[in-house]
Amino acid sequence: NLPKYVQIKEVGPRDGLQNEKSWIDTADKIAWINMLSESGVEEIEYSSFVNPKWIPALADAREVGQKIKRNPNVSYSALVPNVKGLDFALEAGIDRASVFMSASESHNINNINKSIADTYPVLKRVIEEAKRSGKPVTGYVSTVFDCPHEGRIAPSEVLRVCEKLFEFGVDDISLGDTIGSAVPSQVEQLLETVLHHYPQEKIIMHFHDTRGMAIANIMTSMQYGINRFDSSIGGLGGCPYAPGAAGNVATNDVLYLLHGLGIHTGINEQKIQEASLFIQGKLGKALPSKSLAYLASA
Ligand code: HMG
Ligand code: MG
Repeated sequence: NLPKYVQIKEVGPRDGLQNEKSWIDTADKIAWINMLSESGVEEIEYSSFVNPKWIPALADAREVGQKIKRNPNVSYSALVPNVKGLDFALEAGIDRASVFMSASESHNINNINKSIADTYPVLKRVIEEAKRSGKPVTGYVSTVFDCPHEGRIAPSEVLRVCEKLFEFGVDDISLGDTIGSAVPSQVEQLLETVLHHYPQEKIIMHFHDTRGMAIANIMTSMQYGINRFDSSIGGLGGCPYAPGAAGNVATNDVLYLLHGLGIHTGINEQKIQEASLFIQGKLGKALPSKSLAYLASA
């Protein structure tokens, strides 16, 4: 009873690059996103309209948004923390906005400088304004399994945040294993709770692969009917406010799994490989994806 089709959101240009120390030239980011646009992927999160003092690697979000070549079959989204970020994103061009907050109080404060309670009115306004501009909104909830400061987070706490975000009008929610710590039994527990309240098509899973558990967690999620996942090309990335956390699960590895299982994605693995090698060359270091390394050496 696995899904026949899985939708991937490529978050490499955002989650992947946000924590990189080396600056990638804007022209290279644009060329790379243009390659990704031709891979068959349906959504690309191309950058973040956050405070560039906090995330310098994505300080060129506006220029990137203005200059990428838009494929009409791709939805281009970006991270927005507040109305100021949303206004910049709308100017640069987005098809969809992604708002974000954390299920754990301390991670929320570290990440966006506010308590959970103080974050709600900010996101409510962003969501309402995005909808008024005709843009769908995804709500990210971080630290849905474990918080780097508080430890285990109860599914009921995650549900509480989801309830608020859905009440404010988000179209769907991406549940983030920010520090890549979950094992499948945690995924089962959380999905038992969340899917009791919301249909599976509203839920996206966002796994970081710090401990190599992401593929097992995706498999478990699919057994619960989830067919939307975030992944990052080559496994690039990490959250700057979650020390030691590795990148997202690699798009390359997810595609190897899904296509091997006969699950359709619409994505061309060869094009993902080429785009991985391109950004790997620009970063000057090997990316963590095992499928990427295997194919590159074959
Ligand atoms: P703040 O400092 O609390 O905001 O930042 P403020 O409203 O007090 O403003 C302070 C300064 O920031 C002002 O500038 C504002 O203009 C500026 P100043 O007057 O001092 O020169 N500012 C902005 N500039 C540009 N764009 C903006 C913007 N907003 C304010 N949008 C804020 C609050 C949220 C903006 C800040 O804390 C921030 O940018 N944090 C970055 C958070 C971030 O990007 N984290 C990583 C992404 S989340 C993630 O990775 C998790 C996820 O992948 C899921 C998962 O894995 O779990 C999504
Ligand atoms: Mg993330």
